[in-house]
Amino acid sequence: MNTALHTSIPVDLDDYPYSIEVGFGLRHQLAELLKPYNKGQMFFVVSQDTILKHYQPVLDQLAEAGFRFVTHVVPADESAKNISYAEELWTAMVEAGCDRSSMLLALGGGVVGDLGGFVASTYMRGIDVIQIPTTLLAMIDSAIGGKTAVNLPAGKNLVGRIYQPKMVVVDPGFLETLPTRNVVSSMAEAIKYGFIKEKRIFDLMDERFDDMVALDDQALILDIIASSCRIKGDVVVNDQFENGERRLLNYGHTIGHALEAIHAYQGLYHGEGVLYGMKCANHISWKKGLLSDDEYQHSQAALDKFPLPELGEVDPDQVLEIIGHDKKNINGMLHFILLDGVGQGIVRTDVSPEEMVASLETLKTGARLA
Ligand SMILES: NC(=O)c1ccc[n+]([C@@H]2O[C@H](COP(=O)([O-])OP(=O)(O)OC[C@H]3O[C@@H](n4cnc5c(N)ncnc54)[C@H](O)[C@@H]3O)[C@@H](O)[C@H]2O)c1
Ligand SMILES: [Zn+2]
Repeated sequence: MNTALHTSIPVDLDDYPYSIEVGFGLRHQLAELLKPYNKGQMFFVVSQDTILKHYQPVLDQLAEAGFRFVTHVVPADESAKNISYAEELWTAMVEAGCDRSSMLLALGGGVVGDLGGFVASTYMRGIDVIQIPTTLLAMIDSAIGGKTAVNLPAGKNLVGRIYQPKMVVVDPGFLETLPTRNVVSSMAEAIKYGFIKEKRIFDLMDERFDDMVALDDQALILDIIASSCRIKGDVVVNDQFENGERRLLNYGHTIGHALEAIHAYQGLYHGEGVLYGMKCANHISWKKGLLSDDEYQHSQAALDKFPLPELGEVDPDQVLEIIGHDKKNINGMLHFILLDGVGQGIVRTDVSPEEMVASLETLKTGARLA
């Protein structure tokens, strides 16, 4: 269905085509959207108390429509992405009588989506999963593309699979109850799509930043979210297993992840790390002559609109050390994403440690053309 406020975006993967349904109020139509999948089997819902506190009626409609389902909650933070919770879910699924025809519904943000997707991908060698993202990050990024994972003490997302969902149901109405900092920091991923793929999104995010933060213009929110979903979906179709184009999605993430790690994943949200990381990547792009002076200053000014916590002293050696261990560092070769103009991300393997350190300096001084 395509109406003014409901868009269906195809993710045309050869073996696993699916759609991303985007629309305000879709959570009230969940039973209808899931109806074609209901063959009387057991549905297993993974969520968190923080979400069900607001959205229990979303599940109540399934009961009213005759779905058989059980709900299991996990902790409402990153600690849930642990193999012990995967085991807890597998066990609960056996106890609930889930079989190979069962379907898992992941109702939550990236944590629920990554854990739920991983559990679905492994339970009885893989059952169907539908992602119902409730955070902006999950809506425009993590629920699309099939990356699932749990963490190890040695690092985040070290165990997981690429396992595509059957459908993604995106209702921006969920954002009303999400803390503003969570929403605004995740807008980093939307402006990222503008930088690497579609200048129109960058311009929209730049010009309508305050309206986006206020979340009061439904057409604008829908445009940004649906466009982001379309871009992510297209990139995944072109390169599901991240050997080429999908790497572009790591724009801002090389240095961003390092800053997140230094803050031990506390104090700095993922999107905030990425915002700092994009500032650094833009500086390197400009120094290499890929961005003009105007493009560089305009890009940094757009990023400066985002409220960011103080970084404090950053030890460049520590950043380089962490980047050395980064997953994007394959066979000793660092794939760094730069911009060849706004709207045009490129993969480069010639970014030097000195260029990265110089870019970190600009986080203190701002975008001076010197
Ligand atoms: N799979 C991927 O491709 C991918 C991509 C990016 C990030 N991730 C992962 O995503 C995770 C972060 O996801 P996130 O930012 O969505 O955080 P999150 O899932 O931890 O959610 C943040 C908090 O908001 C609460 N919450 C969620 N929706 C809510 C709502 N509508 N109203 C009120 N509270 C709500 C949650 O309970 C949680 O406490 C990380 O683990 C990261 O590794 C995965
Ligand atoms: Zn990200």
